[in-house]
Amino acid sequence: MDKTAVVKVGAAASASVCVLFGGVVLAQYIVAKKKRAGKKTRIIEMMPQFEKNTVHMKDPERVEQIICSMIKGGASKLQIITDFDMTLSKFAVNGKRCPTCHNIIDNCKLVTEDCREKLLQLKNKYYPIEIDPQLTMEEKYPFMVEWYFKSHTLLVEQRLQKDKLPDIVRESDSALREGYEHFFDRLHQHSVPVFIFSAGLGDVLEEIIRQAGVYLPNVKVVSNFMDFDDNGILKGFKGELIHVYNKHDGALRNTEYFKQFKDNTNIILMGDSLGDLNMADGVPNRENILKIGFLNDKVDELLDKYLNSYDIVLVKDETLEVPNAILQKIL
Ligand code: TMP
Ligand code: MG
Repeated sequence: MDKTAVVKVGAAASASVCVLFGGVVLAQYIVAKKKRAGKKTRIIEMMPQFEKNTVHMKDPERVEQIICSMIKGGASKLQIITDFDMTLSKFAVNGKRCPTCHNIIDNCKLVTEDCREKLLQLKNKYYPIEIDPQLTMEEKYPFMVEWYFKSHTLLVEQRLQKDKLPDIVRESDSALREGYEHFFDRLHQHSVPVFIFSAGLGDVLEEIIRQAGVYLPNVKVVSNFMDFDDNGILKGFKGELIHVYNKHDGALRNTEYFKQFKDNTNIILMGDSLGDLNMADGVPNRENILKIGFLNDKVDELLDKYLNSYDIVLVKDETLEVPNAILQKIL
């Protein structure tokens, strides 16, 4: 071998050693990084429910920290604040939309065809505004007031009978998310207060959860309740209107409830609308709040907004598997 050949072989050998050494260092770095990351997200990794492709998080480490703090706090520090329509109830089954509390009445046989048509027209006009990604909550607010006013006026004109509500709900397609029994039973067993805060129809909502066997003593419902005359005929609605984007005001009207649970400083908030993020505004002492958002519609346009607002975003997930997994760790 001549001198240049020896130099070439030597150079190649040392280059290989360098590559090998570099590779080993890189591998060690990756393993160490994974280990570090693994340590930080341990609880989440222990929950296979978080591996589903419906689960999205902007900051998994923050979620990990909140859950760890909530585990330390246990049942006595926990409370749940949740929306109802499209959060506890399903958005769709096999591609078919499920009804909101209002839709259960819209679709029932006690409502005339003419009224049903008008309610449908209102929904076609205002629901796209409710979920419009381009409009702010402030811009949507007056449209929501308009929708509720028109819709509730139509319902009152129908002179609905209170005693017909159980049958209307029984005959409807209403459905609670998979796993609702575990959700409510576990929270009841551990006496965790559950505040259901809905811009739906309270009487219908209560009937749904009663028929599902989960209207348990630890559950409080705040919603739009119907006002019936002495003959049980709908004549109006009680109290201040709750619509999708005024939950902040509703929350502040319920400070007495929240004071009662002033030591329950760890909150799991669940909603499907950006308006639901204000549901905990009446809580006096907040140590930790974990916000879980169900994103059901306009996913591509809204995902970023939801990721910036909710800690965990469940995309087209019709189950309560993730909340249940978290509760299992805390309780
Ligand atoms: P939620 O606060 O429990 O989600 O309930 C509010 C939902 O009710 C919201 O998505 C709008 C919907 N809604 C109807 O479906 N029909 C109506 O007529 C009205 C006024 C609201
Ligand atoms: Mg909702």
